[in-house]
Amino acid sequence: MTITTKEFATFLKKKGFIYPSSEIYGGVSGLYDYGHLGTLLKHNFEQQWRNFFLKLNDNFYEIETANIMHKNVFKASGHIDNFIDPIAHCSKCEFFERADHLIEDNTRERAEGLSPEELKGLITKNNITCPKCKSEIGEVSILNMMFPLQMGATTTNTSYLRPETAQSPYVNFKLQFELLRKKLPLGLALIGRAYRNEISPRNLTLRQREFTQAELQIFFNPNKIKEHPDFNTIKNTKLRTLLIEDRKKGKVVERTAQELIKAGLPKFYIYHLAKIQEFYFDVLKVPKEKFRFYQLNDSEKAFYNKYHFDLEIELNEHGFTEMGGLHYRTDHDLKGHQKISNQKMEVLDESTGEKIIPHVLELSFGVDRHLYALLDISYDQDQDRGNTLLHLPNKFAPFFCAVFPLVKNKPEITEKAKSIYKEINSCYSCYYDETASVGRRYARADEIGVPFCITVDFDSLEDNSVTIRNRDSTEQQRIKISDLKNKLFELYFS
Ligand code: GAP
Repeated sequence: MTITTKEFATFLKKKGFIYPSSEIYGGVSGLYDYGHLGTLLKHNFEQQWRNFFLKLNDNFYEIETANIMHKNVFKASGHIDNFIDPIAHCSKCEFFERADHLIEDNTRERAEGLSPEELKGLITKNNITCPKCKSEIGEVSILNMMFPLQMGATTTNTSYLRPETAQSPYVNFKLQFELLRKKLPLGLALIGRAYRNEISPRNLTLRQREFTQAELQIFFNPNKIKEHPDFNTIKNTKLRTLLIEDRKKGKVVERTAQELIKAGLPKFYIYHLAKIQEFYFDVLKVPKEKFRFYQLNDSEKAFYNKYHFDLEIELNEHGFTEMGGLHYRTDHDLKGHQKISNQKMEVLDESTGEKIIPHVLELSFGVDRHLYALLDISYDQDQDRGNTLLHLPNKFAPFFCAVFPLVKNKPEITEKAKSIYKEINSCYSCYYDETASVGRRYARADEIGVPFCITVDFDSLEDNSVTIRNRDSTEQQRIKISDLKNKLFELYFS
């Protein structure tokens, strides 16, 4: 079902998922708030992400850190010099746009990573003019995307809002390594806010100025990159890849993990590609054809990466869209921090006796983009039912179930329904609703993606049973109240 981003935004606001921040003052471009349903969905995503990625290794942990960081962090990481975007500027009407986006919108060709001169060349070659007033676009300039902060009473800037969560685990690495018994690989995960002064925020939460990332930094011995103890468990897994060589045909190729070794990727990297794909298929339940790994070339890769695949999901109006990335950042960051902080980042790998600066494999996920994608994939306008439906996976739906009394004017029925609701609500996210006809209540539940509705009717008073209605099939199953908790447990994991 295709709807425009504008129509989608209206739906998401009307239901309490997502809406512009500070809206009573007209909103602020690139800032969004999550309403009561959006917040539940976000928490579910974050919890499922933790459940999956922290369990990949017993030596993976989560940390929680400050969002404002010392300016030297970003001197060391390279963000002060390299975290820049190219700006196309119309000198007549003061219109600003990211130059690569302006070119992509006009030519449908990727232009990420090109120099300002190359971008200006493409703008001229393709006769691209200002989208607002049609005047000529001037020279392409650059802008650092970080937000500097003036803290305390002094006027010197000593800090920045972090533009990625990643730097926090890097500056915490040495301490955590010591605390966690000096073992490699060590994983430090962080779910938190990142801030970027995007030139042209757009498409709802897909490009914002403040957003949430879920990132896992794996510190490992670089001499072991060609191995992974569990590689055999994924060696025959078919990975949906679009390598640089596939671009001309534009077709995703399914390659086994073994075949990717021949394409020049190390086992440690491929193992994590496979686990990421498992997360998309088994946890997020993304349809296979809507997912792909997109390999970036040298000019497109982030400045800190040696290997870089984007994780992409196909969205209704936007096509394949970057959701995250698997980044082999080498020792770029730890070496940078060693140099600027004068603190040694070298550690002893006790398993081999080698002294090394660990390399980092980063699993990076934009939380807001994933929530957008989940909602986009789930959205459906069911012609037969005449209402909107969200086919959200059971573990992600803001409410897993709802309890309805068939009628609200029969106290025996409402009391029974309330007592069932109380019992279930202690285990699952659930709500109680007795207003309007039961058909209308089913429709309201469909619209916010509730997978199961439990109805207490007149027969329930006799047979101590209720009906469970399945959102997607509308099938209703009769079940004993005493079996309800077990049944819901089974359904939650289905
Ligand atoms: N630590 C690596 C890193 O930050 P990135 O590709 O710049 O890499 C990772 O960002 C993810 O964060 C992206 O794939 C995307 O999902 C999300 N992201 C980046 N910029 C964003 C923005 N302006 N608005 C919403 N999400 C964004």
